Amino acid sequence: MILGIFDSGIGGLTVLKEILKKNSFDKIIYFGDTARLPYGEKSKEELLDIAKENVGFLLSKGAEKIVIACGTVSSNVLEELKKDYNIEIIGIVDALIEGTKEKTINNKIGIIATSATIKTHIFKNKLNGYHVYEMSCPKFTPLIESGKLDSKEMDDAINEYLKPLKDEGVDTLILGCTHYPILSNKIKKYFDYPINLINSGVIIADNLFDGKIKNPELEIYCSGSIEDFKNNSKYLEIENINEIKKY
Ligand code: DGL
Repeated sequence: MILGIFDSGIGGLTVLKEILKKNSFDKIIYFGDTARLPYGEKSKEELLDIAKENVGFLLSKGAEKIVIACGTVSSNVLEELKKDYNIEIIGIVDALIEGTKEKTINNKIGIIATSATIKTHIFKNKLNGYHVYEMSCPKFTPLIESGKLDSKEMDDAINEYLKPLKDEGVDTLILGCTHYPILSNKIKKYFDYPINLINSGVIIADNLFDGKIKNPELEIYCSGSIEDFKNNSKYLEIENINEIKKY
């Protein structure tokens, strides 16, 4: 089985990393659309056009199943996309909801995601009956993708976005954008009490595992600078990323 995965950039690698731990596929094709990021500031129409192009690209490379490792595309246009293709297309929203319901104890949940995701209120709607605090974090992805993970700007952005959620005492935080697991350690440190971070990759990898261990061949493409993609993805320590091809 060949799996296709796409995101606006290196964020989806947080999902790929978890899927690789389970080794459930013969081959995995990853596409990071860095030339067009951030997706989080785009309209629904733009996102649908882009998502169709990306799915088309992955299909042309032989993908038989697709994971949209992008919260923005998953929350905005997954249902529309599913109608157009007769292969399985998996988004990250349901995995995040599943993980959140399992973990929260005080039923106070924070959701951090891109502006385009928060605008849909999809998490709040699906978590009816819980106290859900939404926060869009437009600075996170551009900072991660420009190599500013460890910077004062990042620390300031973390304080700006997470302080209101800390003040509310959320016990569970949905990482609604696949770039955000890269910030896990920083986020955990920022909350001065234990917090559950919900990473879609972990749940998706579990759900996709068919019990048969395989050793997938990996093919990675990006649409922007290959050098930047390589440098920024180093932090994720995915062993088999050596060759990255131009989209
Ligand atoms: N990683 C993506 C997401 O999960 C997109 C971030 C962006 O490009 O704005 O939403």
